[in-house]
Amino acid sequence: LQNGLARLPPMGWMSWAKFLCETDCKKHPNTCISEDLYAKMGNRLVTDGYKDVGYEYIHIDDCWSKLQRNKEGRLEPDSTRFSKGIPWLVDFLHQRGIKLGIYGDVGPTTCAKYPGSLNHTTIDAETFASWGIDYLKFDGCFLNESGIPAEYKKMSDALIATGKKIVYGCEWPLYLQDHPETINYKDISSACNLWRNFHDIDVNWQSIINTIDWYNEHQDEIAEFHGPGAWNDPDMIVAGNPEITDDQARAQMTLWSIWSAPLIMSNDLRTVTPSAKAILQNRDVIAIDQDQIGDFGKMVFNWTDLYFYVKKVTPVVKVDDATEFSKAIAVLNRGTVNIKINMKLSLLDLKYDAGYSVRDLWAQKDLGLYGVNDELHLHIQPTGVVFLKATLVKKNRTFKWN
Ligand code: DGJ
Repeated sequence: LQNGLARLPPMGWMSWAKFLCETDCKKHPNTCISEDLYAKMGNRLVTDGYKDVGYEYIHIDDCWSKLQRNKEGRLEPDSTRFSKGIPWLVDFLHQRGIKLGIYGDVGPTTCAKYPGSLNHTTIDAETFASWGIDYLKFDGCFLNESGIPAEYKKMSDALIATGKKIVYGCEWPLYLQDHPETINYKDISSACNLWRNFHDIDVNWQSIINTIDWYNEHQDEIAEFHGPGAWNDPDMIVAGNPEITDDQARAQMTLWSIWSAPLIMSNDLRTVTPSAKAILQNRDVIAIDQDQIGDFGKMVFNWTDLYFYVKKVTPVVKVDDATEFSKAIAVLNRGTVNIKINMKLSLLDLKYDAGYSVRDLWAQKDLGLYGVNDELHLHIQPTGVVFLKATLVKKNRTFKWN
């Protein structure tokens, strides 16, 4: 959606994968869906350094509202769990430089049976805007497939009509997955800033792998309309949870960055280990995700358990009419043993004849200058990755175009 927003993939924190729909604050005061949870996580973004590296949104998910609209037909937050009201939370976060996302559903109710926006599109968009909300995640439960495109567009228009800057996150293609022939990414990308295409991620490695498999299989079809203002969304970053090892955390962050995907964590920021925090905050990796080109990097081949990915990034060099790109390179080892290999850059289609300066992004170490026929020595841990940036080297004056 070209509304001037989400020019880079959004980064933040969302409650769902970790905290789901826990509404019993008596039994679970520290983990229930409440203003307290969102305020605490917002504070953590700031005090623990996440905001400094780019994480800027706190996202409310399902189960925040009352079970009924009020007399005017407006949504209201649950009055015990959000006793201070949403504008208070917006203000609390804005004062700290953090933005607030809220959650709704295109159908009659949300997936957890709270009121949905069907037949209330305008009033809900106005309510969110009047509260100062910065982002809407719009779910797709309980609406007939045939209604999905029109209803998602309706909310897009309603948000724009408020005149407020509200990022619009859709789940439109996900809810059409049983009839993929009805998924029109051109329409989706002109109505939404981002869109979920695959199932919910869970807090385990298998779920990360399922998402990677689906993205591998569908990469050509979903890459086409992806770029600034319009992003495919493979769902939340679950790194930072105890179920995910550090190798797996690096793997998820790497693949999501290869795709220029939103980096929206779902974990308990109060208990993230120092090593996982360093992974979530690796500036070299985040810079690949947030590279201004916004390329959807693709798997270029696989060999045994190794999967190779290449993404176009800056800086670029113009050569006559063509553009040469620097490249991010990822190698994922999906197997159970360490693998060591040597490979030439040219095998990954890196063919710039002046060569590349190569950096190991997880080790945060420069590996030196490589010509296209030089061999990289790679050592990849099981369920782990190697992630490199190959930056174009300036041609010296012996080349004819300089
Ligand atoms: C389905 C969505 O895909 C999830 O991300 C989450 O928002 C749940 N619904 C909430 O019910």
